[in-house]
Amino acid sequence: MNAVNVGLLGLGTVGQGVVGILQRNANEISRRAGREISVTHAAVRDLGKSRPVELNAVTLTDNVSDVVNSDVDIVVELMGGTELAKDSVLEAISRGKHIVTANKALIAIHGNEIFQAALDNGVIVSFEPAVAGGIPIIKAIREGLTANRITRVAGIINGTGNFILTEMRDKGRSFEDALADAQALGYAEADPTFDVEGIDAAHKLTILSSIAFGIPLQFDAVHTEGISTIASQDVAYAEELGYRIKHLGVTTETPAGIEIRVHPTLIPERRLIANVNGVMNAVLVQSDAVGSTLYYGPGAGAEPTGSSVVADLVDVVRTFTTDPENRVPHLAFQPDLLSDKPVLTSDQFECAFYLRLLAEDRAGVMADVTRILADQKISIESLLQKEPIDDQNAVPVVILTHQVKEAAMNTAIEKIEKLDSILAPVARIRVESLD
Ligand code: NAP
Ligand code: HSE
Repeated sequence: MNAVNVGLLGLGTVGQGVVGILQRNANEISRRAGREISVTHAAVRDLGKSRPVELNAVTLTDNVSDVVNSDVDIVVELMGGTELAKDSVLEAISRGKHIVTANKALIAIHGNEIFQAALDNGVIVSFEPAVAGGIPIIKAIREGLTANRITRVAGIINGTGNFILTEMRDKGRSFEDALADAQALGYAEADPTFDVEGIDAAHKLTILSSIAFGIPLQFDAVHTEGISTIASQDVAYAEELGYRIKHLGVTTETPAGIEIRVHPTLIPERRLIANVNGVMNAVLVQSDAVGSTLYYGPGAGAEPTGSSVVADLVDVVRTFTTDPENRVPHLAFQPDLLSDKPVLTSDQFECAFYLRLLAEDRAGVMADVTRILADQKISIESLLQKEPIDDQNAVPVVILTHQVKEAAMNTAIEKIEKLDSILAPVARIRVESLD
């Protein structure tokens, strides 16, 4: 049978990973797919750039339309960004090409439109590499857990952020040094603020939430906080209390609606996910039939991500001949049966909290603070007063609360910060027991 021809839009970190895997494992891959898979065309921005992969059989261009309009069967979008990527993917779909993409921003923001276009044109849009790099999490949720009612998905889903937090905690490195390494290793986004401010994780969580709960993609409704504000003293106090701080994406179905949130989180150090370090990612899925399952692996990098791209290519090749009506739905649920359950805003979330206060070292201060918390029905799990700060009449106080409505916590913090005895803004980090 003829080879399946593939065109790449982008030959950077991931594109080169894909070419390397397809060449090295060509025999294994064609035995699995039933067809040989060859990259015949690729678009890049700079034709003069040297690329350490064998490209003799590939027609290179700096015009994406050349690839989209070529005779390739599958277009693999690996450029990043949302505008050109969206236009080229829609153009390729209109020409009957199947799509594989690693671009989570594209799917999170334009996925609803792209999937509709794919349905109209009878083609597949595959996006395993867009979430958690080399971990086959999309396949696990969309297919492996299809018997279950999923209640929650929580994960470390940005490799760069986890790499930075690990380097800072284990090696005492600065934020900037660790980020520079993540960039050199090819983990970071073109704009690394996407990694450190949680935007990349929010793109991925948008996708996970949709395939877990069968809701349309709603990136604008995700509550997003980054890691750039985490203070080293909070990392140290969290450890003393038996917790690790991780940048977590959490999406939960509650009776009132769906929470979709990305933020730094204290996790008990005994949980497996608290011990996921470096560029590794992990996704915990809680569901009714199987219980909790945890998926772990490299969350970024050329070949881990390339592995997911090639897996999608093989899946697409295997389904070439299936009736479009009988393919796995893009968002796991049949497109006409998606739910309109609302996505909750942050003041509707329910969470436990870690609070750090800088308080004047005198009698009565803690009574004022605990009264404010009690007035808001916030119950304290533990309270630690730390050593006074040198030559200041100030003590850091750390409080862990039980689960509380965020609106109540916002009110309490506002009142605590107005006390004369509180000398700095209150630091707060959400706590997830993940049990
Ligand atoms: P990258 O190294 O920056 O590569 C981007 C590629 O796209 C380059 O080859 C670039 O050409 C090409 N390109 C950019 N603009 C173009 C244009 N206007 N016309 C033609 N070609 C253009 O990025 P990457 O790390 O491989 O990431 C690619 C995608 O995968 C992104 O969506 C990213 O979020 C996603 N992703 C990355 C990872 C990872 O670990 N890196 C993991 C999962 C998902 P030049 O080479 O000539 O500059
Ligand atoms: N920049 C992303 C990360 C790439 O570090 O997780 C993988 O999606």
